[in-house]
Amino acid sequence: MAVKKATERAGKLGVTNATFIQTDARAMDPSWNDKFEFVMIFDACHDQCRPDLAIKEIYRVLKSGGVFAMVEIDGTSNVYEDRQTFGIGCAAFYSASVFHCLPVGSNTPDALAMGTMMGTKKGRKLLLDAGFNDIKIEKVPFFDFNVLYLAKK
Ligand SMILES: C[S@@+](CC[C@H](N)C(=O)[O-])C[C@H]1O[C@@H](n2cnc3c(N)ncnc32)[C@H](O)[C@@H]1O
Repeated sequence: MAVKKATERAGKLGVTNATFIQTDARAMDPSWNDKFEFVMIFDACHDQCRPDLAIKEIYRVLKSGGVFAMVEIDGTSNVYEDRQTFGIGCAAFYSASVFHCLPVGSNTPDALAMGTMMGTKKGRKLLLDAGFNDIKIEKVPFFDFNVLYLAKK
């Protein structure tokens, strides 16, 4: 439905240099080696069962010098430290995690079950393990509870 709507909208707006497809981020088109200058995902890492495999694929499809941008929920990757850093408000994100993100991210036998509060320690490790070593993690101006990871290949 989202792909259909986006394709229709692009057609109406006369956009000719964009294509919308549905694919599994863990196994993208094998011919896409070193193909893209920029890849971004928005709030779509911590819900995946195997975000490690998806990020390795993103590394593969990026050109040398290409950038991967990932917006995620801010967190320390430690429950106690989250409470100290973000206060009681972070309980809302742990609740969302228990009722949605952890169940959907635990749905295969090999799932990593990251959850909403994956946090920047685990996020950075996913990027390092995929091969990225130029990584910046910044707060974003539009949502106080998010961070932006910028990883250059
Ligand atoms: C929290 S939603 C975010 C969706 C959208 N980026 C947004 O901000 O509204 C997480 C998305 O990750 C997608 N997802 C989970 N596993 C995936 C995979 N292996 N490949 C591609 N997408 C996946 C889900 O289908 C879901 O749409």
